[in-house]
Amino acid sequence: MEVVIVPDAKAGGELIAAAIGRLLSHKPGALLGVATGSSPLPIYEALTAKVRAGEVDASRARICQLDEYVGLPAGHPESYRSVVLREVVEPLGLTEASFMGPDGSAEDIQAACEAYDRALGEAGGVDLQLLGIGTDGHIGFNEPCSSLASRTRIKTLTEQTRVDNARFFDNDIDQVPHHVITQGIGTILEARHLVLLATGEGKAEAVAQTVEGPVAALVPASALQLHPHATVVVDEAAASKL
Ligand code: GLP
Repeated sequence: MEVVIVPDAKAGGELIAAAIGRLLSHKPGALLGVATGSSPLPIYEALTAKVRAGEVDASRARICQLDEYVGLPAGHPESYRSVVLREVVEPLGLTEASFMGPDGSAEDIQAACEAYDRALGEAGGVDLQLLGIGTDGHIGFNEPCSSLASRTRIKTLTEQTRVDNARFFDNDIDQVPHHVITQGIGTILEARHLVLLATGEGKAEAVAQTVEGPVAALVPASALQLHPHATVVVDEAAASKL
């Protein structure tokens, strides 16, 4: 695992956007796995700026989702499908045709999970998967104690994650769904390159356990230690307990 400490979130975003630019220059149709939450926003801003400046050609890029809430009505602004379309797909000038994600409103959620897991493989696998990290060390929505071999499946959110995410739902925890679909840790580990960005002091403990602790289901992000090409980018604050 490679750990890169940058001065701030903006610098982390620039660094990772540049890496995505290099990937797209030698593989224009690369499949980019994107994460939601606040942490990756500087990456999307920097990448969008590079595309608009003509420094990066993302016109053939394909985008795929990491996770999704279950049961939000289609088109809900906080469904991760809506978020990724708004924050990544549209700014990059792409269309829904180049985007794939799990169906969180499917009648048969289990079948939707299996279909998405299969679809990722059929699409040739994820070339670069962006990850954030939860304060409890989760990646995607793989909460502590998720199997390190898990596949895309339905999970129940912990109270802590629902509290953390309530800010996207008018600070009303009752609006935060209880269930989610997430790529499993085994699924995530199949991506060719994993890039985790963590910023702010609130992530320092989770980062320290991810990088320096044992590989353990209690800290799902520690599974990155098992991956041959994992990069953890942290700002000074998130690195403060390393
Ligand atoms: C959610 C997402 C994760 C993300 C995490 C941290 O739980 N499912 O993919 O990493 O939030 O979000 P933030 O970056 O806003 O702290």
